[in-house]
Amino acid sequence: MPGDGDAMSVLAPYYPWLKALHILSVIAWMAGMLYLPRLFVYHAGSEPGSATSETFKTMERRLYRGIMTPAMIATWIFGIGLTLTGVVVWTTFWLYAKLVLVAGMTWMHMIFGRWRGAFAADARPHGAGFYRAINEVPTLLLIGIVILAAVKPF
Ligand code: HEM
Repeated sequence: MPGDGDAMSVLAPYYPWLKALHILSVIAWMAGMLYLPRLFVYHAGSEPGSATSETFKTMERRLYRGIMTPAMIATWIFGIGLTLTGVVVWTTFWLYAKLVLVAGMTWMHMIFGRWRGAFAADARPHGAGFYRAINEVPTLLLIGIVILAAVKPF
């Protein structure tokens, strides 16, 4: 049983629920992390001030503020909650490696926020090809994080 007799296991009875909520939050956050850069690709090709550009601004704002940021906060809260169930063996290394990649994902989230703000101000600091390439970064981080969390290779 996770956390039997462990001082860190105050949340042990809630382990299955915390894991379900953690995974649901991760899915919502990742949906945005994979889709927002696609919106940037199309937005970068639109005329500033055009109706299309204004529609992209609305879509980007609602996705980022309405879904991605709350989902990121929920992922962190439920992830930290999971560490308090006693499930983590602290001498294994996977969680530390995962947290490095999660920090990278969180940093990407904040950079996306800055780019969203630039688009909202009708700036076009990068071209469509740049956002298409950047789109791969959250994908690679996601693959690494899920393998570390599920396989726990070390
Ligand atoms: C924000 C900090 C995070 C912390 C502290 C954290 C911590 C944890 C912990 C302790 C578990 C339980 C592992 C187990 O049941 O053996 C877990 C499961 C999981 N986490 Fe996270 N996590 C975080 C973020 C993320 C992110 C960003 C993703 C994906 C992008 C993710 C994906 C998963 C998955 C898929 C599982 C289920 C693994 C399994 O069932 O074996 N986590 N997490």
